[in-house]
Amino acid sequence: MPNAESLEVLYSEEVIAERIRVLGAEITQNYQGKELILVCVLKGAFPFLADLCRAIDMDVRIEFLGVSSYGAGTKSTGVVRITQDLAHPIKDKHVLLIEDIVDTGLTLRYILDNLTTRNPSSIGICTLLDKPANRRVEVEVDYSGFTIPDHFVIGYGMDLAESYRNLPYIGYFPPETLGND
Ligand code: IMP
Repeated sequence: MPNAESLEVLYSEEVIAERIRVLGAEITQNYQGKELILVCVLKGAFPFLADLCRAIDMDVRIEFLGVSSYGAGTKSTGVVRITQDLAHPIKDKHVLLIEDIVDTGLTLRYILDNLTTRNPSSIGICTLLDKPANRRVEVEVDYSGFTIPDHFVIGYGMDLAESYRNLPYIGYFPPETLGND
């Protein structure tokens, strides 16, 4: 595990909070009069969901979808598994998927294909971070907090081998401090 002292901060708590306030206002405006379900993709999106739902000024339902895609390394395996399914049906509801980061797009592609078979009225995507450099399949992102360069980022829900999720900011380790996995 790299030394936390070599961590570079990409987005501070304050910058994240301000961006989420703007995203929440946009979502509130766009879903007026609709029944909206926020589907938090676990584990990484839990802090984003917690802050974003409080920036949305209308009633929403909250669901959690557990997905595992990476194992312990920093490269996508392309193998996606649902580890915890939604607790309620989404038929005829408006669903907004809440993700921490879109990298290859494989995880979201899998989730979209799976949830579409359950006949929701709509499925949107809201991601805190978009990392387009590694995209392998196309996914249409409706709301994106920040577009980032090709760094493996941690903090604010995102992990490296399950560590660092509780950092209040988003940072990355310069490549020379990471191993080759
Ligand atoms: P994708 O399937 O490659 O788009 O990756 C999606 C998932 O991989 C995200 O929801 C994250 O959990 C994880 N992931 C992708 N990039 C990073 C990163 O830079 N840091 C931490 N987790 C990441």
